Amino acid sequence: MMMFDIQFYSIFLQIFFMASYQLNINNQQYKAEAEPDTPLLWILREWLDLTGTKFGCGVNTCGACNVLMNGRTVRSCQVQVRSCTGINITTIEGLSADGSHPVQRAWEEMSVPQCGYCQPGQMLALTGLLNQNKQPTDEQIDAVMSQQLCRCGTYHRIEKAVKRAIELSNQ
Ligand code: FES
Ligand code: FES
Repeated sequence: MMMFDIQFYSIFLQIFFMASYQLNINNQQYKAEAEPDTPLLWILREWLDLTGTKFGCGVNTCGACNVLMNGRTVRSCQVQVRSCTGINITTIEGLSADGSHPVQRAWEEMSVPQCGYCQPGQMLALTGLLNQNKQPTDEQIDAVMSQQLCRCGTYHRIEKAVKRAIELSNQ
C-alpha cells in the first residue's frame, strides 16, 4: 500500500509540474511536454531525436553539448527548458543543410574529427564566436576554444580549421 502511495504521489507530481513548451529549433517548431527544469540537452537528444548535440560531462566543463541560442553559444546541459521559449535555437543539424557553412567547410577540408564525439560542440563554439566577431584575435579564439575538450586530442587540426573557417567567413 505504501509503495502504491509513493508511486501515485510521484506520478501526480510529474503531471502537476509538467508544462508545455513551444521551441524553435533549426527554424522548425517543436512542442515539448516537460518539467520546467529539464535540461535542453535532454529535450534535444531524448525527446526530439536531435542527437548531434552530445552529452559529455553534464557539468559545464566539456562543451560537447553546445548549441546556439539567438546566435550565441550556450551549453545545453546547463539550460533549463523553461528559458528556451521565444529563442532561436540552432543545433549542429541546423548549421546548414548542405554543409556550406564556413565552419562545416573548414572542418571537412582539415579532416578534423577522429571519433567525432566532441566536434559538434567544437564547431558551435567557433560559430558562436564568429557570429559576434568575424575577425577574432588569437586571444579571443583561445578564450573560447580552450574551453572545449577533445579526448582524441585533435587540437592541432581544430586550430588549423579555426583559421580556415575565419578565412572562409570573410570571403
Ligand atoms: S555536457 Fe554540457 S558542458 Fe559537458
Ligand atoms: S574527436 Fe574524439 S573526442 Fe574529439
